[in-house]
Amino acid sequence: MMVRRVWALVLGALVLIAGAAHAADAPIIIKFSHVVVPDTPKGKGAQKFKELAEAALPGRVIVELYPNSQLYKDKEEMEALQLGSVQMLAPSLAKFGPLGAKGFEVFDLPYIFPDKAALRRVTDGPIGRDLLASLKSRGITGLAFWDNGFKIMHANRPLRLPDDMLGLKMRIQSSKILEAEMTALGASPQVLAFGEVYQALGSGVVDGTENPPSNMYSQRMHEVQKFATLTNHGYLGYAVIVNSKFWDGLPADIREALTQAVAASTAYVNELAERDNADALAAMKATGKTQFLTLTPEEHAAWVEALVPVQDQMAKRIGHPLLAAIRAAAAGQAPALADNVVPPAAAPATAETPLAKPVSSPLGADAGPLAVLAVLVAGLVALAALFARIPALDRLEETVIGGLIAAATLLIFVAVVQRYSLSGAAAGARFAADHGQPGVRAAALGAFKALRLVNLTWAQEACIYMFVWMAKLGAALGVRQGIHVGVDVLTNRLGEKSRRPVIAFALLAGAIFTGIIGALGAVFVAHLSQTDQTTPDLELPVWLIYLAIPIGSYLMCFRFLQVLFAYLRGGDLPGHGHAPVEVPGVTANEVPA
Ligand code: LMR
Repeated sequence: MMVRRVWALVLGALVLIAGAAHAADAPIIIKFSHVVVPDTPKGKGAQKFKELAEAALPGRVIVELYPNSQLYKDKEEMEALQLGSVQMLAPSLAKFGPLGAKGFEVFDLPYIFPDKAALRRVTDGPIGRDLLASLKSRGITGLAFWDNGFKIMHANRPLRLPDDMLGLKMRIQSSKILEAEMTALGASPQVLAFGEVYQALGSGVVDGTENPPSNMYSQRMHEVQKFATLTNHGYLGYAVIVNSKFWDGLPADIREALTQAVAASTAYVNELAERDNADALAAMKATGKTQFLTLTPEEHAAWVEALVPVQDQMAKRIGHPLLAAIRAAAAGQAPALADNVVPPAAAPATAETPLAKPVSSPLGADAGPLAVLAVLVAGLVALAALFARIPALDRLEETVIGGLIAAATLLIFVAVVQRYSLSGAAAGARFAADHGQPGVRAAALGAFKALRLVNLTWAQEACIYMFVWMAKLGAALGVRQGIHVGVDVLTNRLGEKSRRPVIAFALLAGAIFTGIIGALGAVFVAHLSQTDQTTPDLELPVWLIYLAIPIGSYLMCFRFLQVLFAYLRGGDLPGHGHAPVEVPGVTANEVPA
C-alpha cells in the first residue's frame, strides 16, 4: 500500500515536471488580428512580419494572423488587445481617438498632408515618436506607423462638388474628425465597423463612404458603388501596436528580434502601399463597374474650401501646439516642439496602469483592497435585504426604468423625424437645382442647415446605453415582481415539502451569483475609472456605462435575498404574472402563484 502511494507521488511529480518543462519550451504565440484582407498593404505587412519573426526566432515565436475581422471588428480588437486576448494589431489611426489618445486624430484632418513626404516627416519625426509613446498609459506599446494611402470619396451619385454630398448617408470610422468632415460637406455621418461596410452599401443602409482604393477594391465595394471621385482629401494609415504587458514581459533577445522584424516589415509596407493603391484603382477602372471622376482644379479648390475649415474647427480638441507642429512639419519646416505638443496621458506612462494587465481575472493581486470593498458592499446589500423594506427604493427603481424607457423612445422618435426631414430638405434642394429653381433650392438649403443645427449623431449611442441601464435595473425589478426569467419545470413536479428547499436554494444561488458579478463589476469599474477611455459619440467616460453592471447586479442580489427571506418567513413568492410556460402533463393550477 505504502509503496504504491510513493510510486503515485513520484509519477505525479514527474508529470508536473514534464508539464513545466514543456511550458517553458513552448513557443510564444503572437496573435495578430486585423480587419482587412491579406492582399492589402496592411495584410501583406502582417504576413511579412510573421515570416521575418518566425525566421529570426525559429521554434521560439509563432505569429498567428487573423485577417478580415475574422476574430474581432474595429472596436472589439482594441479591447481585445488591452485585455490580452490578442497581442498585436495595426488599427487605422482614426481608431485611437476613442481610447482618449486624441493626438492621433490629426491624421484624419482633411488636406493636412499635401503628400506622402509631408506625412513621413510627421510619422518618422519626434511627433510620431511622441504619439506612439502616448499610448503607453493605455497599456499599449506603439511600434511603428504603416501606410495605406489617401482616401477617395464614393457613392451611387457623381460627386463633383461638395454640394453633391448633401443629404448622403456616409459611412465613417468612429472618429470625431471624420464626423466633422462629413458634416461640413452636408452629409450624414454613420459610424460602422469596416467589416459591415460592403453589406451596408449594397443594401442601401449607407449611400457611400471614403477609402483608399486598396480598401475599396479588396472589399469589393466597387461592385456596389456607381461613382468614385479622386478627392485624395485625407490620409489612412495604421499604428502597429502590442499589449505592453506582453511586450515588456518578453525575454530581451526576443523583443529585440521582433523589433527588427517590425522595422523591416514597416519599410516593406511603406514601400509597396502606393503601388498597391495604384494597382487597385486600375483594377477597379478595368471592371467598369464604378465610374472614377478626376476633379478639375476649380472643383478641387471647392473641396479644399469646404473641408479645410475642419482643421481649425478641431484645433481645440487636438491641441493647438500639436496642430501647429504638424502643419510646420508637413510644410517642411522643423517643428518647434517636441516634448509637450502631444497631449499628455491621463495616467502615468507605465505598463502597470490598470488596462495594461490582462484582465482575464479582474480581481488580480493588486485588486485586493478594491475586492474587499466590493465584497463589503455585497454584505451590506445582504443585511439590508434581511431587515429592510425600502419603499423609496422600489419607487426610485420604477421611476428610473420608466424615465429611461420614455427618454429613449422620445429620443429615437426625434432622431428619426430629424433624419427624414434632413433627407427631405436635401432631396428638395437637389431637385430644385436640377430643375433650375434657385429660390426653392435656397429655401430647401436653409431648412437643411437649420435642421443640421441640432446635432443628433449621438442619439443612437445614448439609446444603447439607456437600454443597457434599463436591462440591468429591469432584471432586478423582474426578480422583485417574480417576472424574471426562471425555469420551474422541476419545482412544478415536486411535492410541497421538497419544493421549498429547492426554491430557497435557487434564490440563494441567484443572490450569490449576482453578488459575485456585482463585486467583479465594481472592481472592473474602479480600474476603468483610472483610464481616460471615452465612448465614441458622447465621449462619456466608459466607466459610467459599465457602472450599470455593479449597480444592477447588487440590486438583483438584494432582490433575490429579499424574495428569499420573505419566502422563508411566509412561504410567499412574488406573482409570476401571466403566461407561465406550459409543461406537458402539468396543469396550469399546479404552477405556483
Ligand atoms: C476602416 O475602418 O475604414 C479602416 O480602418 C480599415 C483598415 O484597417 O484599413
